[in-house]
Amino acid sequence: MGNFSITRQLTLHYVVSTAALLLLAGGFLYWTLRRNLDHTRHALLASKIEVLRVLLREPDKMAALTSEVEHEASESHPLRYYLRILDEQNRVLLETPGMKDLAPVGLFPDPVETSAESINNIQQKSQSGRSLLFLAVQAVAGLAGTEKRTLQIALDTSSGSALLADYRRKLMTVLALGVLFAAVAGVWVARKGMQPLIEITSTAQHITASQLHERIAGTRWPEELGELAAAFDAMLDRLEDSFTRLSQFSGNLAHELRTPINNLRGEAEVALRRCRQPEEYQQILESSLEEYDRLSRMIDGLLFLARADNPKAALERTRFDARKEIETVREFYDAWAGEQDVEVAFEGNASLNGDPMLFRRAVSNLLANALQHTPARGRISISVRANDHQAVEVIVDDTGCGIAPEHLPKIFDRFYRVGRVRAERPGGTGLGLAIVQSIMRLHGGTASIQSRVGQGTTFTLEFPARN
Ligand SMILES: Nc1ncnc2c1ncn2[C@@H]1O[C@H](COP(=O)(O)OP(=O)(O)OP(=O)(O)O)[C@@H](O)[C@H]1O
Ligand SMILES: [Mg+2]
Repeated sequence: MGNFSITRQLTLHYVVSTAALLLLAGGFLYWTLRRNLDHTRHALLASKIEVLRVLLREPDKMAALTSEVEHEASESHPLRYYLRILDEQNRVLLETPGMKDLAPVGLFPDPVETSAESINNIQQKSQSGRSLLFLAVQAVAGLAGTEKRTLQIALDTSSGSALLADYRRKLMTVLALGVLFAAVAGVWVARKGMQPLIEITSTAQHITASQLHERIAGTRWPEELGELAAAFDAMLDRLEDSFTRLSQFSGNLAHELRTPINNLRGEAEVALRRCRQPEEYQQILESSLEEYDRLSRMIDGLLFLARADNPKAALERTRFDARKEIETVREFYDAWAGEQDVEVAFEGNASLNGDPMLFRRAVSNLLANALQHTPARGRISISVRANDHQAVEVIVDDTGCGIAPEHLPKIFDRFYRVGRVRAERPGGTGLGLAIVQSIMRLHGGTASIQSRVGQGTTFTLEFPARN
């Protein structure tokens, strides 16, 4: 059933339930009709037996008895019956005209004593194209009640049976028509119900990479599909965002690679223009080394980001002391901080479950940024603590130049650097914060920034509570 179309499934359900309903209702009515018919027949038989018994016992009622027995078994009567009275030697005393051929004496069952028993002793037989009920019961004649008689009654049930047969035929017709109608209605209803889905599908089919801005949501969808359409649109939003970032990224990448390579090329061309002294070559090679350095740092960073982007990237987690790792990073930058005349303070304590090497790399990127943007006599403070929600927070705060609000939303993007800094510090790759963010993502945490121009910047790394 799994890959049956929904239309077919719905139609099938429709047909099955309609058929079941009709069968149940029709069957019940048929059963009631049949029971009523049986009831009427039995009542008639019982009343006839009683009448005959009474008439038999009273000798002066002979005329009434004869007229009762020899009544015309009229064709038009819905319950046609035949009566016969036999004496002890099974000789026919009286019988309804026409009974001899239709219900001969021999066809009747042996007579039973009481009329109550006789109702249970009814036999149904077909005789010359008619269906009949046969019943025989003992009786006595005369006031003394000494003469034994046998009463034979045959009831022609053909018209009732024909009624039932007709009812069955009609029931079948209604059933067939009902099923047919249910099938047609099922297909129609299902198609109508599926229409919005078909529309969503056709819209979705038109969306390509270049048309990611198209959306399917609107007020016209039925409630159940509205959510699907909204979810679909949300997915398109995310895809479009990723696409835009990706295409920006490749544009930026080309741009970022061009600069150092142009520099290197320019230097080589200038150097080759004429013969030079060994010191000049040395100088040129030294300045090339800086470019190579930058290129190789950029490539390292890109490789790191690519690996971290891989959905299968997993952390090698160990529990480590965050304080010790931050201390190591701080020591590494000690000389530089001294040179810059910037104080680096550190406080707090926490233990973390994660990759200590990546943790150092994130803190180191933040501290390097802070050092780069904090002027002499500035202050950088690093703190680590578990917050109210048991999440571990690492905060790197500086008193540097700060970042204008318009740059903040993009500050974690790859290659994004604030304009002025880009010119001042050609050595930076613009990947440092992107790497911080992807390290945080690997840990299931977040990186956030707060900054005010001229006052300083605060970066907060939050590691989730389960760590
Ligand atoms: N503490 C800070 N104060 C002021 N501006 C900052 C600070 N940290 C980062 N920035 C701004 O954010 C930009 C992006 O930083 P990011 O670390 O990603 O790149 P980068 O430092 O330029 O390059 P790299 O980290 O590879 O040396 C920086 O160029 C700088 O403009
Ligand atoms: Mg940096």
